[in-house]
Amino acid sequence: MAAFNELVFSGVQPTGNLHLGNYLGAIKRFVEMQARDAQCLYCVVDLHAITLWQDPAELKGQIREVTAAFLAAGIDPARSIVFNQSQVPQHAELAWIFNCVARLGWLNRMTQFKDKAGKDRENASVGLYAYPVLMAADILAYRATHVPVGEDQKQHLELTRDIAGKFNNDFSGSIAAHGHGEDFFPITEPLIGGPAARVMSLRDGTKKMSKSDPSDNSRINLTDDADAIAQKVRKAKTDPEPLPSEAAGLSGRPEADNLVGIFAALKDATRDEVLSDYGGAQFSVFKGALVELAVEKLAPLGAEMKRLIADPAHIDAVLADGAARAEAIAAPTLDAVKDIVGFVRKGPSLRSV
Ligand code: TYM
Repeated sequence: MAAFNELVFSGVQPTGNLHLGNYLGAIKRFVEMQARDAQCLYCVVDLHAITLWQDPAELKGQIREVTAAFLAAGIDPARSIVFNQSQVPQHAELAWIFNCVARLGWLNRMTQFKDKAGKDRENASVGLYAYPVLMAADILAYRATHVPVGEDQKQHLELTRDIAGKFNNDFSGSIAAHGHGEDFFPITEPLIGGPAARVMSLRDGTKKMSKSDPSDNSRINLTDDADAIAQKVRKAKTDPEPLPSEAAGLSGRPEADNLVGIFAALKDATRDEVLSDYGGAQFSVFKGALVELAVEKLAPLGAEMKRLIADPAHIDAVLADGAARAEAIAAPTLDAVKDIVGFVRKGPSLRSV
C-alpha cells in the first residue's frame, strides 16, 4: 500500500431505499475525501444490515445497489477500496475482542439502539445491541484516522474512541512489549459537517429522513427519476412565510431550514449563499429552483446506478478486489491485536505492523 497521511473509513448499510440523506450526509462526502492525501475504504456493511431482519432473496441486490451508488457518485475503485464487510473476516473477529473491552453501561446509553428496538426491547437481536461495537471494529481494523458520517452516527463514533482508548490503556504494557508505540489504536476523528449533516423528512422537518419511514414521499430515493423527484419536492411541507435573507432567520422553521440545507449541499454552497439569492422569495419559486437543481444532480446518478446494477458480475468483481485489498490491511492489525491480547496464533508473532 502506498503511504498516505490519513486513512479514511466509512460504511453504508445495504438495507434498501438509499436516499438523499445518505448521499448528501455521507456518499457525496466520501467522493470528496478522495482528493485528500488519504487511503479511503468504503464498505457496504452487510453484517450490520442483518441486525434487523433482511430477506435473503433481496440482500444481494441491496448490497449491489449500495456499491452501484458508490461508483455512480464518483468513488473510484482503483483509488479507493470498495468492498462488503462479510468478505473480510477481521471485522467480526475484532468485534468479538471489542465486545470484551466495551462496557454494558456504555452500550446502554446508545440512543439508536433504543430507537430501533422500540418498546419491545426484549425481542431485539443481540446483534442490534452490539451494533456499535462492530462499527468500532470496522474502523479500527484499519486503524482509520478519519470517518466521514452524518450527524446520527456521532454517538457511535464517540464509543469507537472510548473503545480505542480503553484497549490502549488496558493493554499498554503488552502494546509496549510488542514494540508498538504508546497508542496502538488511533483516537479516530469523526468528520461530520456541511449543510446536510442531518437531512430531514420532506413531510416533517423535525424527523430525520430515513430508509424506514413508511411514507415514500418523506424521502428522495437515489433511484427516483426526474418526475418522482419533482413531485416529492413540490409536495414537501413548508410554512407560509417567504424565505429569510440569512441563515439565522431559519431558526424555528425546520422545513425551510431543511430545504435550504439540501439546496446548499447540492450546490456546494452555504445556507447564507443560497439565501443571498433567494431571500424574500416565496416557496413556489424556491421549490422550482430546487427541483431543477435536484434533477440536474440526482437524475444522472440514478441512471448510472441502474446501468451498473444491470451488470452484477462487474459489481461483484469490484467487491472481490476491494475485499482482498482491505484484508491485506486488516490481517496484520488482527495479528498484532492477537499478540497484544496474548493469544497463541499461526505464524511468528509480530514486532510491529
Ligand atoms: P446508514 O446506512 O444508516 O447510513 C449511511 C450514512 O448516511 C448517513 N445518513 C444521513 N446523513 C444525513 N441526513 C440523514 N437523514 C441521514 N441518514 C443517514 C449516516 O450518518 C451514515 O453516514 N452505522 C452506519 C454504518 C456503519 C459505519 C461503520 C459508518 C457501519 N460501520 C463504520 C462509519 C464507520 C449506518 O447506520 O449507516
